[in-house]
Amino acid sequence: MYRKSRMKKEFVFSLFLIIVSVASSSSILRKNLPILSFDEGYNHLFGDDNLVTNSKDDDGKTVNLLLNKRTGSGFVSQDLYLHGFFSASIKLPADYTAGVVVAFYMSNGDIFERNHDELDFEFLGNIRGKDWKIQTNVYGNGSTNIGREERYGLWFDPSQDFHHYSILWTQSHIIFYVDDIAIREVERSEGMGGDFPSKPMSLYATIWDGSTWATNGGKYKVNYRYAPYVAEFSDLVLHGCTVDPIELSSLNCDMSTNNVDLEDITSSSDERLFKHTTLSSDQRVGMMKFREKHLMYSYCYDHTRYASPPAECVLDSRVAKRLRQFDPVTFGKPPTSHRGKGRHHPNRRADSVVTI
Ligand SMILES: *[C@@H]1O[C@H](CO)[C@@H](O)[C@H](O)[C@H]1NC(C)=O
Repeated sequence: MYRKSRMKKEFVFSLFLIIVSVASSSSILRKNLPILSFDEGYNHLFGDDNLVTNSKDDDGKTVNLLLNKRTGSGFVSQDLYLHGFFSASIKLPADYTAGVVVAFYMSNGDIFERNHDELDFEFLGNIRGKDWKIQTNVYGNGSTNIGREERYGLWFDPSQDFHHYSILWTQSHIIFYVDDIAIREVERSEGMGGDFPSKPMSLYATIWDGSTWATNGGKYKVNYRYAPYVAEFSDLVLHGCTVDPIELSSLNCDMSTNNVDLEDITSSSDERLFKHTTLSSDQRVGMMKFREKHLMYSYCYDHTRYASPPAECVLDSRVAKRLRQFDPVTFGKPPTSHRGKGRHHPNRRADSVVTI
């Protein structure tokens, strides 16, 4: 199901140069990278005329995705990317939005059905007077049996104005940003193994009816009296190593990490990338502050799901305390019998800092 893609033999290395020179500040990245018009960077994915580009207003740089009784809608990048910086300025629909889901994400699920990778921003609508919730998730190599969800509240109403949502994905780190504040960092680690996304992905944006689960586990459905629901997208940044889908399909037989062709794509810049794409200490403090205040759910702290946290989890005692107060059932201490076991979980990284 491949859309026609621009044939790009050359991979885009400027991303790496920019990252190296500014130490991964999302704000500087965003402001220095080109904003593509819809026609330059994307294809229509589904939803017919529920996808609306405002070509007159803004050089085709604004896209509206509508959900009505008939259908949702979505778009997808023309190219596949292995690593890069991806950003959109998004204004979510206002008022009653229960059951509505807006997603801004990367995936290769249409190429790798059994072992796909995925990086998600998902926005979950709510009943009137209650705020949207935002969720991030990471899947690697088909790790769908381990959900790595986190949910957050926001410090603003995302339906009142445009706000920037960005994903930085490198060989060694994944960082999710909201308005240039890092909200989540996933570091490639031995504990995570092949679950760290490592194959080329496309970027997607969609709006759809998530009535069955999105709001309080499906308690509140989409009410089409308030349709159409309109999610507005602008300032779309797509910047990374593009991978030719035709060559990719010829590599399809072997996409494991020892695949020479894939390694070649990044080898010249990897070493520098690895050293420079961590957060500065200020950025890390900002992220901690955000998480202490706004984190509402993290799989790492969910004792009802994991008796001991998955191997890559680095727990923060302040976050644990907050979550426990907020929801003692989900985030309470595990039963004593599990606790001892958890401490000696064979998969846990030896260098994990467990301060709980
Ligand atoms: C990805 O999963 C496949 C099986 O689906 C496995 O053979 C392969 O080794 C995994 N790759 C990594 C990097 O773990």
